[in-house]
Amino acid sequence: MSDNLHQLRCFGCGTRISGAEARPDFRCALCGDLFEVEYPGWGERRGNDRPNPAALKWLWRERRSSSETLDHSGVWRFRELLPILDSFGDAVTLFEGNTPLYPLPRASKALGIEKLFAKHQGMNPTGSFKDTGMTAAISVAKERGFEWVACASTGNTSAAMAAYAARAGLRCLVLIPDGKIAWGKLSQAMDYGAVTCQLKADFDGCLSLLTEIVNQAPIYLLNSVNPYRLEGQKTPAFEIAEAFDWTVPDHLIVPGGNLGNSSALGKGFRELRELGLVSRLPRISVIQAEGANPLARSFRDNHGTALEPVEAHTRATAIRIGNPASWRKAARVIQDTDGWCLDVSETEIAIAKAELGTEGLGCEPASAVTLAGLKKLRERGDVSPGESVVLLLTGHTLKDADYTIGFHRGTLLDEAEKVGFETKIESLRCNAVAVDATHSAVLAALKCNLKGSLG
Ligand code: F0G
Repeated sequence: MSDNLHQLRCFGCGTRISGAEARPDFRCALCGDLFEVEYPGWGERRGNDRPNPAALKWLWRERRSSSETLDHSGVWRFRELLPILDSFGDAVTLFEGNTPLYPLPRASKALGIEKLFAKHQGMNPTGSFKDTGMTAAISVAKERGFEWVACASTGNTSAAMAAYAARAGLRCLVLIPDGKIAWGKLSQAMDYGAVTCQLKADFDGCLSLLTEIVNQAPIYLLNSVNPYRLEGQKTPAFEIAEAFDWTVPDHLIVPGGNLGNSSALGKGFRELRELGLVSRLPRISVIQAEGANPLARSFRDNHGTALEPVEAHTRATAIRIGNPASWRKAARVIQDTDGWCLDVSETEIAIAKAELGTEGLGCEPASAVTLAGLKKLRERGDVSPGESVVLLLTGHTLKDADYTIGFHRGTLLDEAEKVGFETKIESLRCNAVAVDATHSAVLAALKCNLKGSLG
């Protein structure tokens, strides 16, 4: 019996097709919009294919102590809610997911929010949330007999794709904007054997070129326009609901780039509610960088009904995207959950990242937009002290060590960006100092730093 229960539904015109009928660019042949995976049996209350909530909760918990390979994955542990493969035995896994949910005591205190957490997706095998989507979509590629897979990327998608392709024995092609991705990410694509092309184009240019290529060659597209990516990326919603004992937090805050991830998480929570696993949706807000803010502008101008692409600039290179492919899906999630879409400045991002550092949690600059956004929402009175809030941290701090070192050395931000934030920045900076190799010199450096507490 096949494990496969899915079909694809166009997000724009509602056309339904089978998975095998999808075009190589995953666009609807009728209206050009993107597809979503759907599971027809779930809609019928008494349908045989409709999963049973209590049984599922029990099963998923049991799997945490199982010795089965697939149960070690925080994505495939929830496989009843992503029946996209003919056989789950074909799943390609690096034991992704099952990431930590950390309390943030310092930020809680500073913001007066009692229940504040970070879901750290940077703790995945290649150091970003992309692994949860890649395990799903690479498994589909392998099952459908593709030999080549490809993506355009600001770095993390390519790192994840290269790792999972290597694991699956597939070849892969990466298109990246030349000079605009962090070294840590580029090094991963190299290590895992990707054919990596650095193009004189931005992310949006890389993706549109790749779309032309996959329409001509038998290469499987693994950007988040591929709806199977989102099936994997919805599973952190299940982990969060499980961690909250099948209630949901009041508010989830997610960074926005190409807007696949916010779409996926919204879908995850929506499905949990449809299946009776939770009774409500969290508010889902999306935060962008000021220089790469097409969705935030769209919400300011027309409540997310139309989007004008922008030329993107931000040091948070992961989200340096001006023409996000999944913007309609993400806008729907924000609208349906009564969330917000905001943008934050380069200075606010850098400060928020350093503040997360003081909690012992490193993350990428793109992830830190969540804390910067929460601070704004709190200031505006849109988040109240009693609410439970989860920040989704999307990438590991070591992906972009240059950014962190630049902040602490004082070279990251220019003078104009520091104005008004000088004291805050100085209180967070923690530069390394060159010291003579003598105990007295090291002790002198300590005294200098601890300002008298050594006596
Ligand atoms: N955070 C990080 C660390 C990312 O790498 C990305 C996207 C995002 C947030 C935004 O997620 O695109 O789903 O809205 N990185 C892609 C890449 C574009 O190519 O690695 P999104």
